[in-house]
Amino acid sequence: MSGSDVIFNVSPGGKLTGSIRVPGDKSISHRSIMLGSLADGTTKVTGFLQGEDNLATLNAFRAMGVNIQGPDNGCVIIDGVGMHGLKAPQASLDVGNSGTSIRLLSGLLAAQNFDCELTGDTSLSTRPMRRVTDPLAEMGAIVGTTDTGTPPLKIKGGQRLKGFHYKMPVASAQVKSCLLLAGLYAEGQTCVTEPAPTRDHTERMLEGFGYQLQRNGSTVCLTGGGKLTATNIDVPADISSAAFFLVGASIAEGSDLTLEHVGMNPTRDGVINILRLMGADITVSNERVIGGEPVADIRVRSAQLKGIHIPEDQVPLAIDEFPAIFVAAACAEGETVLSGARELRVKESDRIQVMADGLKVLGIDAKPTEDGIVIQGKGADAQVFISGQVDSHGDHRIAMSFTMAGLRACGEITITDCANVDTSFPGFAQLAASVGNGIKV
Ligand code: S3P
Repeated sequence: MSGSDVIFNVSPGGKLTGSIRVPGDKSISHRSIMLGSLADGTTKVTGFLQGEDNLATLNAFRAMGVNIQGPDNGCVIIDGVGMHGLKAPQASLDVGNSGTSIRLLSGLLAAQNFDCELTGDTSLSTRPMRRVTDPLAEMGAIVGTTDTGTPPLKIKGGQRLKGFHYKMPVASAQVKSCLLLAGLYAEGQTCVTEPAPTRDHTERMLEGFGYQLQRNGSTVCLTGGGKLTATNIDVPADISSAAFFLVGASIAEGSDLTLEHVGMNPTRDGVINILRLMGADITVSNERVIGGEPVADIRVRSAQLKGIHIPEDQVPLAIDEFPAIFVAAACAEGETVLSGARELRVKESDRIQVMADGLKVLGIDAKPTEDGIVIQGKGADAQVFISGQVDSHGDHRIAMSFTMAGLRACGEITITDCANVDTSFPGFAQLAASVGNGIKV
């Protein structure tokens, strides 16, 4: 189905109540397939996210000869082929909309002894890849892009990679993970220093598969030539998917919603910190550690939010949650200012511009800046958004964020180009409707 075929119509009002578990974490699901495939032995994954992005990763490894059973109800069984067991794929590997797949795979595949090509959809084909191909070239890899530094990526196999120390200019977990995966095959030590903390699922999972890392402040190092030992992985619910509901329940009066078994990795919890600074009523309970990742239940009740200056140190920790946070900001009293978030312009869409355009259609004063946005909240009003039609530009998180705006609208909100919601959150519309959102597909 083409992106423009799926439209969300959200009827106004309602509140969110009940207790739900949103689907599995996208970042962890990708990494479970990658490391499980390279491990010695059989890895069983439960809670796997059966979204299109993760299926693209899974299919890429199948195309490289890995026997993978499932996914069946979130269960995937991977017969690892060992560090040197991948086979040349018969055709280019199409990873669709998935930035994580293409960037992580570029590092992993740069170290194999076969050539291959990575391609993606229209959105992915405009996203910057030199952030991975430049440092990979320093390691001795040969990975070509288009003249403008975008996919397809053409990878020349059979290169001997050398470990190095890379100081990342942008805070990116995808770049860090790409280089660590290449570093598994490199001669000597590979170190990555990040300018601000980014999600550390790769590091945690490598350790879970028995690979030794040295973590020292903002630097992580590993030495190539080791092996991975199969393990079982229980993927927690994705805090990025929970975020839409955290915002929805915060802004809709009378809401009381519990989100179960949510991943609470401290490199991912910016959305909770930011919403709390805005006055959200969020209680975290039943905290536990599952397979090296912190997990908890989150209860959220409606609250009058206030506008804030979002601390820049929270930006990488909430990088995927800003479309939802902007909807919360529109429902807050006073001004919310975001800066230091230029990265939002190179996600699945230009999330600063696309959100500003959509918010304006819905009657909100939202001014994009080079590296952020300034939003004048209308939280004093019961109904914040006027009726209108917004274009999600095929960006899953934009579509789901505007769905929550319906809870504080005075008329129907129509959201176009929503098919890509399936990349990260299959079943979103049904789940949102089941707790009280007026969404119809
Ligand atoms: C991801 C890292 C983030 C995030 C993306 C998933 C990952 O990208 O936006 O959705 O799984 O490593 P950057 O690391 O490029 O910021």
